[in-house]
Amino acid sequence: MVAPLKVGIAGLGTVGAEVVRLIETQARVLAGRSGRGIRVVAVTARSKAKKRGVDLRGVEWAKDPLALATHPEVDCFVELMGGAGDPALAAVEAALNAGKSVVTANKALLAKHGIKLAKAAEKHGGALNFEAAVGAAIPVIKTLREGLAGTGVNRVYGILNGTCNYILTRMEQEGLSFAECLKDAQRLGYAEADPSFDVDGHDTAQKLAILASLAFGTKVAQSAVYVEGISSIAPEDLRAAADLGYRVKLLGVAVRTAKGIEQRVHPTMVPKSSSIAQVMGVTNAVTIDGEGIPPITLVGPGAGGAATASAVVADIADVARGIRANPFGRPISHLHDTTKAPMERHEGGYYIRLLARDFPGTAAAIATRLAEQKISIESIVQRHPNGGAAPATGKAAPVPVILITYATHEDAVRRALAAVQRDKVISGRPQVIRIEKN
Ligand code: HSE
Repeated sequence: MVAPLKVGIAGLGTVGAEVVRLIETQARVLAGRSGRGIRVVAVTARSKAKKRGVDLRGVEWAKDPLALATHPEVDCFVELMGGAGDPALAAVEAALNAGKSVVTANKALLAKHGIKLAKAAEKHGGALNFEAAVGAAIPVIKTLREGLAGTGVNRVYGILNGTCNYILTRMEQEGLSFAECLKDAQRLGYAEADPSFDVDGHDTAQKLAILASLAFGTKVAQSAVYVEGISSIAPEDLRAAADLGYRVKLLGVAVRTAKGIEQRVHPTMVPKSSSIAQVMGVTNAVTIDGEGIPPITLVGPGAGGAATASAVVADIADVARGIRANPFGRPISHLHDTTKAPMERHEGGYYIRLLARDFPGTAAAIATRLAEQKISIESIVQRHPNGGAAPATGKAAPVPVILITYATHEDAVRRALAAVQRDKVISGRPQVIRIEKN
């Protein structure tokens, strides 16, 4: 009979406690599928006293993460503390250097130190599994790393942050404010400890960097990702998008272009009829455009304790089965440096919302500046706030003008809008949202 896999878990927050519970309640299923038992032998967390609703009797309490990572009884070290630095980094490195397998949900750690850690795993023979780091319960790492091993990838994109999708969905459907929706996301346990990490797009950027590495065989590099968050999105953008047949989503997009790999995170208008536009609430989705096959879209719960624990336990089950894949899908020596495609050369359609000063010549000035940059307009709508009636004060109030462009370059749009601002025909800053066609 094969001895059970002995697991040590560092971090007993919502996810850690759920992992302990799943290993206990699914023990028979896991043993059946892995061909051996899985047993939690030791744990560590900041507070020993905290009530977690799981039975830890008979489980050793290690003095700190490092002690747990190198504990002679532990075969598989599960890191659920989070954070790109210590103690997570030191503990994961120590476990790998000791030849143990590591399972982690820590996207920050992988986006920053993924290559260094994968090298340690490769050198000492342990597995480094991180399915839960991207899209929680969605098996997207396995899909890219193993399922599509024989297929070239041209683009991978998705809704990778549950908090942002939850906020945008509720803002759109219920007309609620950004702040109200964020508070609910925090209450429901979707948001990071510092929610600016979610809403400013950094959480998505880390996940995208990991996906890009798996998709394109590049060394994971968060610094190669262009990032914009959702805090500038106003209810009027969501309404205008709906009127024009689009929805706004925070997308992470990694795409192979002639200029290199473009990796970008920003609010994006997607056609309402696309699969990605149907994904609402905290749900995540990833679409992979593979060579010679139609796109594959994986949809599922991307945040929360149960969804994250589901992927962590599946990773532990792989270790129990003795499966060891190269962490980033290839031996380290086969991963190449990222050639970062400059964002200024990004090509695509744009949604532009301007607050135009309502006097003769404004529309002509805007059209001229766009034409100078060879930007062609697909549609243009001017929405007078009081239905076109003359302003009561006699003074021209600014009117929202919404433009959709045909495909153009980012730097052309930036130059045109800078010129429009210099012309003083608009109030405030233009709102720009990139359009992603499926
Ligand atoms: N804060 C993340 C999200 C949780 O909202 O998707 C999982 O990374």
